[in-house]
Amino acid sequence: RNVLVLNGPNLNLLGTRQPEVYGSTTLQMVEDLCVQHGVSVGLQVSHLQSNHEGALIDAIHAARGVQDGLVLNAGAFTHTSVALMDAIASVELPVVEVHLSNIHAREAFRHKSFIAPVALGQICGFGAQSYVLALDALAAHLTAGGA
Ligand code: DQA
Repeated sequence: RNVLVLNGPNLNLLGTRQPEVYGSTTLQMVEDLCVQHGVSVGLQVSHLQSNHEGALIDAIHAARGVQDGLVLNAGAFTHTSVALMDAIASVELPVVEVHLSNIHAREAFRHKSFIAPVALGQICGFGAQSYVLALDALAAHLTAGGA
């Protein structure tokens, strides 16, 4: 099974960006962790990070028929992007929404997610481990025959 881990705006700065909120783990470390964990649960993990909403939408479209599922941290676009929501709804791929921080314990504007209604589920608040949990959730969903 193939899974794309898609990271949105500002996540390229992980490790140095507000480490008190997002930890000291770099994006490279998160990506390596995902590849390694993917192997242990039978998922071939690839990666993409972009700061651009349109590039993320293009990546979601391109995933159709190529990937079996997506792990998506849309960053701040989570709270703003109807276009990303529509893209996910359009490709009919299982998507697990992830966040490093617990968005529900933060500012009110982060409580709203446009991704959640079109995602299988949401995992947030566990730092880099959120991605590992998301891969587990996706692997279990795909093994159970979900699409
Ligand atoms: C984030 C949470 C968002 O609110 C924020 O805009 C981010 C990162 C997270 O992983 O905790 O960029 O998605």
